[in-house]
This record gives sequence, C-alpha cells and structure tokens, in this order.
Amino acid sequence: MTELKNDRFLRALLNEPVDRTPIWMMRQAGRYLPEYRASRADAGSFMDLCMNADFACEVTLQPLDRYPGLDAAILFSDILTIPDAMGLGLYFETGEGPKFKKVVETEADVDALPIVDMDRGDLSYVTKAVSTIRRELNGRVPLIGFSGSPWTLATYMVEGGSSKDFRKVKAMMYNQPEVLHQLLDKLAQSVVGYLNAQIDAGAQAVQIFDTWGGALSGRCYQEFSLKYMQKIVAGLKRENEGRKVPVILFTKGGGQWLESMADTGCDALGLDWTTDITNARQRVGDRVALQGNLDPCILYADPKIIREEVKMVLDGYGNGSGHVFNLGHGIHQWVDPDHAKAFIEAVVELSPQYHK
Ligand code: CP3
Repeated sequence: MTELKNDRFLRALLNEPVDRTPIWMMRQAGRYLPEYRASRADAGSFMDLCMNADFACEVTLQPLDRYPGLDAAILFSDILTIPDAMGLGLYFETGEGPKFKKVVETEADVDALPIVDMDRGDLSYVTKAVSTIRRELNGRVPLIGFSGSPWTLATYMVEGGSSKDFRKVKAMMYNQPEVLHQLLDKLAQSVVGYLNAQIDAGAQAVQIFDTWGGALSGRCYQEFSLKYMQKIVAGLKRENEGRKVPVILFTKGGGQWLESMADTGCDALGLDWTTDITNARQRVGDRVALQGNLDPCILYADPKIIREEVKMVLDGYGNGSGHVFNLGHGIHQWVDPDHAKAFIEAVVELSPQYHK
C-alpha cells in the first residue's frame, strides 16, 4: 500500500503529537458544492452516485481538491445502505429525505429480516467504492469508513423514514422491548460485518453515526443505543496494514453521556455544538480524543466571525493533541463554499500554536 503523506488525522485520534489540529467536515461531499450537484445530475440520482464506484470516488475527492487544508476523506455513501440491503427498498423523494418501501412494524417483520452478509456479496458496491477511493487518494489523506448506529438505523426502519418525535419506534421500545432488542441485535451484527469489510477494503478509521441517540432518555440510551455500539466496537478489526484503525463514536445530543461512551473502548468521541469542549476534555481526560464541534450555522456568518469562532473552539480545547476539528453536525446544503474555505483555512492557520 502507498505510504500515507498526511497522517495528522490518525495521529490526533490516538492522542499522538501533531503539527496542527487536523480538520474534516461531516457531509463534506454534498449539495453545497456546485461540482457535487453537477456529478449528481450526470449520475442521475443520489443513490446512483453511491452505487457507482467511479462516481462515489469522484464526489469523495471534490472537497479535497477544492480545500487543500482537509486532512481526511470520507467514503461517499449513506447510513441507510444497510436497511436497503436487508430488503426494505430505500428511495429518496426530492425534498422529503429518505423513505422505505417496506416498514418494520411487527415481531414477524423483525424475524424475517436477514443479517447483512458481506461474504455473500451484500453491499459490494460500498467496498468497491472504498477500494477505488483508496487507490485514487494515493496516500494523500486517510479514508474514513462509516455506518449508522443500530438505534439510528432502527428509527428509520420502524418510522419508514425521517421522524420528528420517533413515536413508532419508541412505542415499540416501551411496549415490546424484546422485539426492538432483536432488531438492534441484527443491526449490530450487520454493522460489524459491514465496517470490517470497509476496513479490509482500505478504510483507515471508522465513524459510527448515532444521529438520534440524543432523542432517548439516559436509561434508554444505555440500553437501546450505547449497548449495541459497544458490541460493535468490541467486534471491529482495530488494526490493519500495520496501523491502528481508530473508531469514532458520534452521538448527536450525547454530551451528557461522554464518560460511558468512552467506556465502550472507542478511540474518539464526536461532539455536537451543544457540548462544551473544555468541560468534555476535563471529563474524558486522555482516555479518548475529541472531534468537533463548531455549530454548522456559524458557516452562515461573515468569514471574520467564522475565524473568531474557530479560535474559541481551539482555545476551548486548549493545548496538545487529541482534537480533530469538525462541525458539530453535517454541513448544510445552503452554505457558501467560500465560507467553508474560510473555516478550514482558519483551522490551518490558527491551530499550530496549540501544538508547540
Ligand atoms: O460526510 C460525507 O460527506 C459522506 C457522505 C454521507 C452522506 N450521508 C451523504 C448524503 C454520510 C456520512 C451520510 C450519513 C447519514 N445519512 C446520516 C448520519 C449523519 C447525520 O447527518 O447525522 C443520516 C441520518 C443519513 C440519512 C440521510 N441521507 C438523510 C436523512 C438524507 C436526506 C437529508 C437531506 O439533507 O436531504 C440523506 C441523503 C444524503 N446523504 C445526501 C448526501 C450528500 C443528500 C442527497 C442528495 O444529493 O440529494
């Protein structure tokens, strides 16, 4: 394999010294970029981008070509590929987000769901995209693989799409907890196989997106989300090609639970913008690295203000390694690409002084 030319992202995740704070943005390849919109029009649809390795590779590299300061690439795909591979029939209605043809409602529905089997060729378009991107990156920056958390995937599968209140999946949680546990267990097994296959194909770090963990009470978070992420962390291949493969857990709204998230044995925690990064670092010490956590809406502000806000997050974390700069959630589609540029350049220019 080609040698990695820029490894500060992997080093920061492992608390090793770096020359400056590494940065990447959740959803860095996406609709805010005109070149992405052009590729999507060429491919036909979002899912066509995901399912064709050359298109997936093309859009993964777009933000890196535009912003030389970025320190990681993230596989272009979606978390909902797993429920799709389980037979639910994922589709996107313009302006309405993801939908499924089949919804999981009953115990019989859960019983009938297959576990994703990568060895049988499920989701081979994803591993093909990973190996294509790795080859084309040619050691420029590390490649991040990812998956949804079992709880977050279950919310889409039971609700049939996005939800504001999660009433169906929560009704299942309170009325038939054993049915939801069976679903989460099938998902956890699927995610382990899926992420290990991404690692075998060349992913150099992985992130678990628990976008909706924060909708749960503390007790339910432990029982229905964290427990299954812990199973995943325990089942992952943690070293490949002679290097550690760091695991990042991101629970949006999970700021209250950082200590127990760190107990899973992951390497880093993603923080959303509602969590104070100074306090987060005090609580987890050097047990895990921290990733985040600028409010994505700051990118609507003037570049001068963006720079001040970046400085505040850097000051908030303080000196030393163990911080990966990111937004607290994905970049919005309405953001001006020049504001994203100002954000990335601010991190590149302002962060070296925290690593002397
Ligand atoms: O970060 C990256 O650049 C990698 C690509 C990536 C996408 N989705 C591409 C995408 C990643 C990591 C995801 C994860 C994802 N997908 C999550 C978890 C992350 C998060 O945001 O909390 C979730 C909940 C999904 C499910 C999903 N996919 C939704 C709700 C939507 C529609 C939302 C919207 O903004 O309309 C998608 C579609 C999607 N996934 C797009 C992209 C670039 C937009 C599709 C388009 O081009 O129209």
